[in-house]
Amino acid sequence: MKKTIKVFAPASIANMGCGFDIMGMALDEVGDVLQISAYEGEGITIDNQSGVPLPEDIEKNVITPVIRKFFQMTGLNAKIDVVILKKIYPGSGIGSSAASSAAAAYGMNELFDCPLSEEDVVVCAMEGENLASGGYHADNAAPAVMGGIILIRGYEPLDVIKLPVPGNFYCAMIHPAIVVSTKEARSILPKEVPMHTAVRQWGNVGGLVAGLYSGNIGLIGRSMKDAVAEPYRKKFIPGFDDLRAKLIEAGALAMNIAGSGPSVFALADKYEVAHHAEAILKKHFDDLGIGYESFVVKVSNKGAKLVA
Ligand code: HSE
Repeated sequence: MKKTIKVFAPASIANMGCGFDIMGMALDEVGDVLQISAYEGEGITIDNQSGVPLPEDIEKNVITPVIRKFFQMTGLNAKIDVVILKKIYPGSGIGSSAASSAAAAYGMNELFDCPLSEEDVVVCAMEGENLASGGYHADNAAPAVMGGIILIRGYEPLDVIKLPVPGNFYCAMIHPAIVVSTKEARSILPKEVPMHTAVRQWGNVGGLVAGLYSGNIGLIGRSMKDAVAEPYRKKFIPGFDDLRAKLIEAGALAMNIAGSGPSVFALADKYEVAHHAEAILKKHFDDLGIGYESFVVKVSNKGAKLVA
């Protein structure tokens, strides 16, 4: 037996403002590409040819626990060789670990003729997220596997719901050269949320879901506000409140931290507005003397897929 496939999984933005750990959206075109081969035998090798530095120890690579989880869930076994061909930079806040985890989980399922459901593929991918951040969250992994905008209604058991994606939904993204690990960004959050904060947050989550179903852009924008994590995390991003005010004035629907940061994104329903928002984001970090990479990208309905 020898079988080889190539698989892509997209970058994603977790939380979408109000949906801490329960909402995320997939991005178009940006993502990871893995080549996965299965042979008779057992064991895992990972060859990183992406040019992006990653730990060489396979026990520190998110792909390893994903493959092990796949074998545990299916009762199958084989020798697996993975070549990482393309990789989002780790620590960027656009689901770098989830893209590799989703590509590995989806690719394994395809290699072995799809013994797992789509939800179980997400469960496999979450093993990689746990290694990367110390928590079983699916708000990057689920959109990276399934595409589109995903609501995670519950984790025990995993219950994921695909929400409608408005036709023209663009993100201006910036990844400033600031180091914030997901582990650190999670460790600074309080363990309990006051009732009035929770009330604001679940009102916004309901508003966002209603806005996506009804295509009400104004409702989507005013619902993408985070009362739970952002007050603690925004200190990592200098001038956060001023930056948001400028972007909203320029017509962006919302601006939020992408996942646990340090990337931030502005959402717009017109390409020109997103393009202008990118210029505002760049100027903000230019003025601060902080380097960055930035791009404008469409929210995508496509998740992990085989590539030729
Ligand atoms: N929901 C997670 C968090 C995403 O905000 O910590 C991590 O990218």
